[in-house]
Amino acid sequence: MTLILTRQDVEQVLKMRDCIETIAEVMQRFSAGDTVMPVRLVTRVPERGVHAAMPAVLPSLGVFGIKSVTVFPTNPSRGAPSIMGLVILNETDTGRPLAVMDAAYLTGIRTAAASAVATRLLANPGAASLALIGAGVQAATHLWAMCAVRPVKAVAVYDIDAQVAESFILAQLQRFPKLAFRQAVSPEDAIRGADLVCTISSSKTPVVDHSWLKPGAHINGVGSHTPDARELDGPTVQAARVAVDSRQAALKEAGDFILPIQEGLFAAEHVSDEIGELLAGLKPGRASADQITLYKSVGIAVQDVAAARLVYERAAAQGVGVEVAL
Ligand SMILES: NC(=O)c1ccc[n+]([C@@H]2O[C@H](COP(=O)([O-])OP(=O)(O)OC[C@H]3O[C@@H](n4cnc5c(N)ncnc54)[C@H](O)[C@@H]3O)[C@@H](O)[C@H]2O)c1
Repeated sequence: MTLILTRQDVEQVLKMRDCIETIAEVMQRFSAGDTVMPVRLVTRVPERGVHAAMPAVLPSLGVFGIKSVTVFPTNPSRGAPSIMGLVILNETDTGRPLAVMDAAYLTGIRTAAASAVATRLLANPGAASLALIGAGVQAATHLWAMCAVRPVKAVAVYDIDAQVAESFILAQLQRFPKLAFRQAVSPEDAIRGADLVCTISSSKTPVVDHSWLKPGAHINGVGSHTPDARELDGPTVQAARVAVDSRQAALKEAGDFILPIQEGLFAAEHVSDEIGELLAGLKPGRASADQITLYKSVGIAVQDVAAARLVYERAAAQGVGVEVAL
């Protein structure tokens, strides 16, 4: 039998704090070479966006799987989310499909959980002010994730669409009535003075300028994951202590690295450290309270398969979802 899980089912069982621990574990296993994961296959869908096929095997957890995901950035203007998809989760023993589940909410949570893992490792402990650049799906999950790992008190939100930022703040105030939200008038207005900066926009050009950053700020650069797009200006990346989810994927997919390397700003060796290596204590974290630290994520399939396994386990235990004989 295979368990079919809708978005609502996934929302019911996937909790941020659980997912942070699951993602920390799998990122460490990934960097230790205990997982099997090719760089994802990305296919352009003309005039709409991209489709990615993201397979991974987690032998130690007894599962493998694949996420099929679309990123169509103009969807919100047509009333649909930018990111939609499915995960098929299989057991390694027989290959049997254990579950098929919606991947939209899962992607939102696992991406922010990875940023939380990086923030826990790299941000100054007292980081209390947060800038969110982009106020879509990832902004919400990043807000929850940052509040889970740092004592966030003030949140500045900027979106190129002011109405989106306003609605975002209204919705999140219900969830976090004690947080001081502020709608910023520009990325600079949001970022100046912020201890934590999350870039989770669909911008293809920089939304961060090095001169705006507070000494000691930690950045989670999440939005861009194609070679021609970057959310961070070259000097920010050059100045930062950089850690990535996957070195191989980052150097193949992230314009935030590919473009400044082409421009001669720094060499590929600047992108040498993975979060999993920091977790294992093999690479150092923050060197001083004033250092700028950067986690640049492109998103990797081991995170999806690990999160899907967590969802499957919780759903099976709680009787959530529908079992079908395929
Ligand atoms: N690294 C990863 O693992 C990962 C995972 C999921 C999504 N993403 C990426 O993160 C980004 C956000 O995803 P989402 O699901 O929240 O998308 P979304 O469409 O819900 O939100 C994106 C928001 O960015 C805003 N925006 C666009 N240009 C901007 C600019 N110049 N300044 C400020 N805001 C701007 C849009 O108005 C929109 O509200 C996308 O680019 C997506 O592809 C990355």
